[in-house]
Amino acid sequence: MNIRQNLALKFCLIVASLFLLFGLSLFYFSSSYRASEFAIRMKNRGTTVVNLLTDVKQIDNNLLNSINADTKNALFNETISVFDQNNNLVYSDTKDSTNNKIEIETCSFQYSVNDKQFKVVVSAFDKYGQDNIRNLKIILTVGLLLAVLVSYVTGWLFSGLALHPISKIITDAKEITMSKLNVRLNEGNKKDEIAQLSITFNKVLDRLEKGFEMQRAFVSNASHELRTPLTSITGHIEVTLKKERNTKEYIELLESLLNDIKGLSKISNNLLDLALATTDVGALKLRNVRIDELLFSSREKLLKNFPAYKANIAFLTFPEDESRLTIFGNEPLIESAFFNLMENACKYSDNMSVDVVFMANEEDIELRFKDKGIGIPKNELSKIVEPFYRATNARSLPGSGLGLSLTQKIIELHKGLIQINSEEGMGTEILIILPIIRA
Ligand SMILES: Nc1ncnc2c1ncn2[C@@H]1O[C@H](COP(=O)(O)OP(=O)(O)OP(=O)(O)O)[C@@H](O)[C@H]1O
Ligand SMILES: [Mg+2]
Repeated sequence: MNIRQNLALKFCLIVASLFLLFGLSLFYFSSSYRASEFAIRMKNRGTTVVNLLTDVKQIDNNLLNSINADTKNALFNETISVFDQNNNLVYSDTKDSTNNKIEIETCSFQYSVNDKQFKVVVSAFDKYGQDNIRNLKIILTVGLLLAVLVSYVTGWLFSGLALHPISKIITDAKEITMSKLNVRLNEGNKKDEIAQLSITFNKVLDRLEKGFEMQRAFVSNASHELRTPLTSITGHIEVTLKKERNTKEYIELLESLLNDIKGLSKISNNLLDLALATTDVGALKLRNVRIDELLFSSREKLLKNFPAYKANIAFLTFPEDESRLTIFGNEPLIESAFFNLMENACKYSDNMSVDVVFMANEEDIELRFKDKGIGIPKNELSKIVEPFYRATNARSLPGSGLGLSLTQKIIELHKGLIQINSEEGMGTEILIILPIIRA
């Protein structure tokens, strides 16, 4: 059932229940009013008969019967019986009712005239009252059916009118495809709920468009980064193959190829890690990892890759309690974050060394990666975490601009914090705070 039918049906149900409630109470009060009014009329007839019986001395039953038969006030199928104190029947004008279907009503009461007590029993059929009630029943039933019909139709029309803007949004939204992400929904009066929905949807589209744009730029940057070393490799091989070379030249070629291939494999590893760090935490293999151990293992890897680099690790606090050194995280990703920070510090400083200061607090672990290198120009500080961005003063050194953005993603993934302080020509300090989250 769609919303329109649902609304129309609910509206119809409300109107019908109101009408039913109103009809039932009207019917109930009319019925009880009729019954009590008819009882009064029967009582009046009874008292008139007793009055005649006692007031008029000469009257006898036959005469009274014929008077009663003529009276305008007589009731349909009326039967009146009067008993004296000793329960003897003193008057009766019983008429045999042949019609069994009619509802005869009876009313009995005590009545005293001139100190004489009478018991009067009157029964009759309230023809007009019952007819009225029957008519009322028909009117109410027809009214109820009409109310149901009219309320369903009006409910259907009104909900159609109210939902029209939503149908419009649906039609417009169908136009939006991957290649037409710049299309936006009409924001109408910018105030009502539907306009708010369009505005929110448009904001989502803005973000999506931006995201797609970034992804497109990322892919083109990534392929450019991969193409450059590949072109260089091809060029080197082609030039070398032009004529026969001596062993020294071949060794030189292989060394340069090895360098390019190392660069390529680093880029592709970084890209893979970036893809991994951008996925949902739930999809990652997380376990309890010792941060101090990861710091040492990444230092080892760094020195193996770059034997000229120096990395000093200093512990400001080193708790006895092992759990204060442990966080719940992804081992290879954290290791690669530490590696990137240490590599940057050494790569961008003349002394090729980094100082890492480790501090374990109650709730988190703080790590500072300090160098006395070229620093980062102030106006470029915010950009260096963007994938592929490299500061102007660093472009003469090798790199693809992926390491820091990957590091930031990894830290964010572990609900941590990264803060970069740098002064051009003086050095850089990168602070990492990793909260101790346990499984
Ligand atoms: N310790 C540092 N000192 C000076 N500049 C830095 C430092 N760390 C990062 N930067 C700047 O930030 C930029 C981005 O760093 P990032 O690690 O992402 O890329 P990269 O080092 O150029 O390449 P790679 O992908 O190989 O790491 C660098 O190009 C450099 O300009
Ligand atoms: Mg780097």
